[in-house]
Amino acid sequence: MTTFGTIATASELSAGATTVDLLALGARRYVPLYRQRAMVLERGLGARVWDRDGREYVDLSAGIAVCGLGHGDPDLLAALADQAGRLWHTSNVFHSEPPLRLADELVVASRFAERVFLCNSGAEANEAAIKLVRRRAAAQGRTPERRVIVSFRGSFHGRTLAAVTATAQPKYHEGYEPLPPGFRYVDFNDVAALEASMAAGDVAAVLVEPVQGEGGVMPAADGFLREVRALCDRHDALLVLDEIQCGMGRTGTLFAHWQDGVVPDIVTLAKALGGGFPIGALLAGPEVAETMQFGAHGTTFGGNPLAAAVARVALRKLASEDIAANVARQSAALRAGLARIDRDGGVFSQVRGRGLMLGAVLAPAHAGQAGAICDHAAAHGLLLLQAGPDVLRFVPPLNISDAEVADALARLGQAVSAHRRACVEPAGG
Ligand SMILES: Cc1ncc(COP(=O)(O)O)c(C=O)c1O
Repeated sequence: MTTFGTIATASELSAGATTVDLLALGARRYVPLYRQRAMVLERGLGARVWDRDGREYVDLSAGIAVCGLGHGDPDLLAALADQAGRLWHTSNVFHSEPPLRLADELVVASRFAERVFLCNSGAEANEAAIKLVRRRAAAQGRTPERRVIVSFRGSFHGRTLAAVTATAQPKYHEGYEPLPPGFRYVDFNDVAALEASMAAGDVAAVLVEPVQGEGGVMPAADGFLREVRALCDRHDALLVLDEIQCGMGRTGTLFAHWQDGVVPDIVTLAKALGGGFPIGALLAGPEVAETMQFGAHGTTFGGNPLAAAVARVALRKLASEDIAANVARQSAALRAGLARIDRDGGVFSQVRGRGLMLGAVLAPAHAGQAGAICDHAAAHGLLLLQAGPDVLRFVPPLNISDAEVADALARLGQAVSAHRRACVEPAGG
């Protein structure tokens, strides 16, 4: 018997399985880390996706800010198919052309970096940044106690043990102790607190998202990053910007920090960099470009030609004027639409964010209800995310059209109305 035959015989799933069968399979077979909504998505085009039962959704989630060019972008598909027919993988023992060119294009696009490390995800990019920070501190002769990395409450930097420790939200730490030492947390946008936390001179780097994503779509206050840069300069600490969610054009400029007028030492990228194909990157500026030398770090899959070929196209398209113009246009449309929905429903206390990274903060009467509203949205044909229990998060494809935004807002209006009705008439009441 072949191995394939053994798997087929052992599988419980018949060829004619229904969506309910598949959901039950997921419930049985996956490590139960997620609470996926009760649908099985099958295909997508632009900012629309369809499930296997033929239901259509407008996608304002874009795979958590990943599909910056929407679904089925013809140029990404062509790059993928072309590279897939040539060479998928070489390891980093050998060169191939797509990652070489991608590294060069990232350096040029970034306006600050000299070198690039390619990996497969955001957590890996931040893990590499953390290791680089420590390596530099070690090379400077700093003792381990003087290699502290400061990050901000509400941040999110990934799930590997170091990246999750940098993530200054206790809910992600619980049960994973002992956490690696050398991390310190400060309130976001609080310059005085940061200054105090750096006063002892033991801080090797400050790690910060220009717009916090998972923490509730919270932008850095005007001037905050400039103050952080100045403090880093004063204390010989590195400024590490996590642009994994807010980068790649999402906030209206290719890099979010361009709007803050700072030059970082390190930027980490992932998510939209591959347009949906997994890839991450660490961009290293002049101060740190030579820190990591042969053997200091590595990855088997990072910088594989398939991911790099796709990312080159994603980068070129996301850096275009057309995308920047559309982000500004659709951001204004979304904000206007959210204001209209709020006038009718009074559900939001604030809409914040930049470009197409917007958060609608729920009014106190609806606090904790973001998940419930996302459920109503799905029932009305809209894929929507929350950022914590109190914030609806809007991170659509950056090339979303006027018609798709209008459609999404109509569906959101219906979802909010359904939510308000459910509040008045609780289930079973
Ligand atoms: C700002 C930020 N950093 C890091 C990560 C982790 O990226 P990944 O899930 O690809 O490991 C995320 C993911 O949501 C993120 O939003």
